[in-house]
Amino acid sequence: MPLVSTKDLFKKAMKEGYAIGAFNVNNMEIIQGIIDGGKEMNAPLILQFSEGARKYARHEFLSHLVQAATELVNIPIVLHLDHGEDFEICKKCIDGGFTSVMIDGSKHSFEDNIKLTRQVVDYAHSKGVVVEAELGKLAGVEDNISVSAKDAVFTNPDQAAEFVERTGCDSLAVAIGTSHGAYKFKGEAQLDFERLAEIQKKIPNTPLVLHGASSVPQDLVDICNKYGAQIKDSKGVPEAMITRAASQSNVCKVNIDTDIRLACTGAIRKVFAENPGEFDPRKYLGPAREAIKQVIIRKIKVLGCENKA
Ligand code: G3H
Ligand code: 13P
Ligand code: ZN
Repeated sequence: MPLVSTKDLFKKAMKEGYAIGAFNVNNMEIIQGIIDGGKEMNAPLILQFSEGARKYARHEFLSHLVQAATELVNIPIVLHLDHGEDFEICKKCIDGGFTSVMIDGSKHSFEDNIKLTRQVVDYAHSKGVVVEAELGKLAGVEDNISVSAKDAVFTNPDQAAEFVERTGCDSLAVAIGTSHGAYKFKGEAQLDFERLAEIQKKIPNTPLVLHGASSVPQDLVDICNKYGAQIKDSKGVPEAMITRAASQSNVCKVNIDTDIRLACTGAIRKVFAENPGEFDPRKYLGPAREAIKQVIIRKIKVLGCENKA
């Protein structure tokens, strides 16, 4: 099946109350693990490349691997640019066959974010490509964070409405307490579901995106640590919160990278710890690919998108 856009996928996800996993890819085994998981669960998939991934693996290698995936499996696959920093990067990906790009103007002022996003939207739409934008800053929530501190970083619902109206973006990444990486919360994990509901009220037709949505499952951390890692005090977004956001709100896209990294690293560490003499890359990358497949299956269940291909 050729690459698809998120447009119809998000429409169905909003209507039926689930979200689609957007998984970061960096090499062949990660792509294969994700595809194998998606195929087994009959779920749509969003494969996304960060700038770092494009530099590491080289754009052409990754996009041809994704192309191969579309030829081999019969589930909808979106090719998405994650955290595009400027117009040029987005243009390159739009011209290079991506079906969706993110322009991340969240570090800019409100007005500059609008200007940049509008520029990308105009170009992308002229080529039939959809655009995810971001408003607010991803910051972990500390216990007892004040309302004013929250307002300074989290997405403002009124601004969200103005932003979507003025930019014409197709989906919006919102800041409600998630953050990137394995150390998301100092105290109890908490997301601002009230704010999410407010945002949704203001822009009821706009699909929402959650970045920094890995759950950092303790069992995956434990495998890493058992075989020599030192990952301490990590904390992710509990799976029940992800399910709540996916099923009860317009959150249609949930970004996951850290959990894939943990699954991959744990599997590789285990092979080396148990077989110190091993040096055939297939013997450790193979188990890593299988561990990634299993984490994808788990995510698809949490997001409720099993059999939604
Ligand atoms: O949002 C960040 C993603 O986890 C990608 O991370 O820039 O290290 O590839 P990266
Ligand atoms: P995690 O670090 O929580 O996996 O988030 C990934 C992400 O948001 C990629 O854009
Ligand atoms: Zn992100």
